[in-house]
Amino acid sequence: MLSGIQPSGELHIGNYLGAIKNWAERADEYDCYYFMADMHTITVRQDPAELRRRVLTQLATYIACGLDPEKNTLFIQSHVPSHAQLAWVLNCYTMFGELSRMTQFKDKSARHADNINAGLFDYPVLMAADILIYQPDYVPVGEDQRQHIEICRDIANRFNGIYGDVFKIPEPFIQKVGARVMSLATPDSKMSKSQPEGCVFMLEKPEDILRKFKRAVTDSDRENCVRYAPEEKPGVANLMQIYASATGKSYEEIEKEFDGQGYGAFKPAVGEAVVEMLRPIQAETQRLLADKAYLESVYRAGAEKAAYVANKTLRKVYKKVGFIQP
Ligand code: TYM
Repeated sequence: MLSGIQPSGELHIGNYLGAIKNWAERADEYDCYYFMADMHTITVRQDPAELRRRVLTQLATYIACGLDPEKNTLFIQSHVPSHAQLAWVLNCYTMFGELSRMTQFKDKSARHADNINAGLFDYPVLMAADILIYQPDYVPVGEDQRQHIEICRDIANRFNGIYGDVFKIPEPFIQKVGARVMSLATPDSKMSKSQPEGCVFMLEKPEDILRKFKRAVTDSDRENCVRYAPEEKPGVANLMQIYASATGKSYEEIEKEFDGQGYGAFKPAVGEAVVEMLRPIQAETQRLLADKAYLESVYRAGAEKAAYVANKTLRKVYKKVGFIQP
């Protein structure tokens, strides 16, 4: 299994419920590679000192969420240069037209109209390289990354069609509950750091988290009843998804639990459940952040192990396309 997150902002509960929680639950079953996608973040301007701080915080949070560095390979993308080397090769097997159709490119170029750089356009090819270089079976991500995995599979199939079975074709691993956490303020849009009012950050103070849940948008009909109906009541369905994911309860159990109580009781209960879910993660993240030497030892060992695996694929690819072995 392989996946990554961009340290372009603070991690939020969408990242946790959509991705990291899923990773941590499978650490014993699979050989896992998880990284901080720092190279992807510079497609949008970053403050260099902030970027460094966020990479370390992200690593500490990965570990605090249960990704034991002894069992999982945790590394920083820019420490394994073969990702970029493979991306160059894959660029030559990716079409301008298919990159132009990517939703994230269209969204980000609309939001950063003054900086529509080539990296932003090429982003999915670097992501395809991140994945294919480890030959994973599964890529555990949230729903919004499905299109990126599709293009990765297309590129791999195209390459394999020319050179034989070089790449394993990866499957997206997307869970049912938590795959698309919506904003608490505007439940028709995805929870994202670019909209902080509706976004709950993993390291946010409990009182701020509770306040955000108390203010969460529910629905405009005055039914005031906790019922799972995503089309009619997207705000309520989203809160139910978060509660279900945080507590492991089913939608039916949640409906029963809040039967006759209304949103006034439900919203703070979801807030409390999230605070409790995050409490041990927050404490452990802070503890780890105080031990920079340990974090450094983790990312160094991770990069060494990742590079070993990645270089094997790169050598194979270089040979196939006709480069002389150095
Ligand atoms: P990124 O950094 O935007 O998001 C990281 C992970 O969090 C998931 N996610 C969500 N899940 C549910 N609800 C949400 N509101 C929500 N917001 C984010 C994402 O689906 C993702 O799993 N391009 C990737 C990073 C990347 C990568 C890779 C991923 C780079 N190389 C290789 C997998 C494999 C990205 O921008 O994710």
